[in-house]
Amino acid sequence: MLMRPDGLNSAPARFGLPLWAQPIALGPYLLPNRVFAAPMAGVTDRPFRVLARRFGAGHAVSEMVTTKRELWDSLKTSRRADHTGEPGPIAVQIAGVDPVEMADAARYNVERGAQIIDINMGCPAKKVCNVWAGSALMQDEPRALAIVRAVVQACAPLGVPVTLKMRTGWCATARNALALALGAQDAGVALVTIHGRTREQGYSGQAEYDTIAQVKAALSIPVVANGDITSPHKALAVLQATGADAVMVGRAAQGRPWIFREIHHFLATGQLLAPPLVAEVRRALLAHLHEHHALYGPVVGVRSARKHIGWYVSGLPDGDALRRAINTVQDEHEQIDRVAAYLDTLAQRGDRLPVAAAPEAAEVFPT
Ligand SMILES: Cc1cc2nc3c(=O)[nH]c(=O)nc-3n(C[C@H](O)[C@H](O)[C@H](O)COP(=O)(O)O)c2cc1C
Repeated sequence: MLMRPDGLNSAPARFGLPLWAQPIALGPYLLPNRVFAAPMAGVTDRPFRVLARRFGAGHAVSEMVTTKRELWDSLKTSRRADHTGEPGPIAVQIAGVDPVEMADAARYNVERGAQIIDINMGCPAKKVCNVWAGSALMQDEPRALAIVRAVVQACAPLGVPVTLKMRTGWCATARNALALALGAQDAGVALVTIHGRTREQGYSGQAEYDTIAQVKAALSIPVVANGDITSPHKALAVLQATGADAVMVGRAAQGRPWIFREIHHFLATGQLLAPPLVAEVRRALLAHLHEHHALYGPVVGVRSARKHIGWYVSGLPDGDALRRAINTVQDEHEQIDRVAAYLDTLAQRGDRLPVAAAPEAAEVFPT
């Protein structure tokens, strides 16, 4: 059994919990914990966000929605703006280049149920950056801050808090997250998330946390640390190194949505949770597939569910064989039946999901 890690006991204990296990305020909302689900286009759709919250995510941000009005009626955007049955507060991320259009997009999404608007200045995707949106905006601070001001001005009368997600900068020689975060705070942003990589890095190399620590030290609004948080130990190490108010988890939650409760539990108690029961994973995965098929329809839904199934079974016994088999299945019911049969067989090997032991803090976050 693990000892309670250093730093947990010394945090001020409101609600009888260590600081990083306490709820956190975001505008008028009190988020239940400090482990957030990152927005990932093509991944964190409504079924995924609902699941992430069921498994303990304190906050979940939608995939980005474009500001291009002509695309709002497209199937893709209307699916992204559909929040039916999603527990609140509903946070929608918008991406664009023009302050007026961004303000319009914010209002459009608030009308459709958004309770928090997140501005994307973190996405490195070419189709976003070539039109000066996403992380490209970090190169043009005046424009970036004009966007932030316009969105805050649109949202403030509606009582909707605005958050900002960015990288550390455009490239190693232009790490301007601090200047932008300060400007955004002055403009009225309620929370800033920083992915510890520059735009130039894409997803390569390792996230660095010094810039996040600098931003946290300078800001009075909450700062969320993001990038390469893959385990409870790593989450704690990043929180200790940065002093950030919360962590945001992206890729490590793909096929492993229970990571949110694992991290929260560790931050609250210093203990690692046992892996989930296979029966619980079965219930969650089948519900995920049903909701996924319902959102996308049988043809697109069966195809786009394959990546999720692949992530869930990655590293599990005979997982590769299931993934290969699933890639040839075209029918939604057959897809669900095959996954159910696989998990029934897995349950015969043991009650709990077989997973590799979590690495120790020193291995995950070399000092
Ligand atoms: C497939 C994919 C799609 C992403 N889409 C978005 C997006 O729409 N908006 C955004 O701000 N970040 C997006 N990101 C970045 C993530 O939110 C996150 O900042 C990044 O993956 C680093 O966190 P991680 O190491 O925990 O994955 C995306 C990342 C991935 C892998």
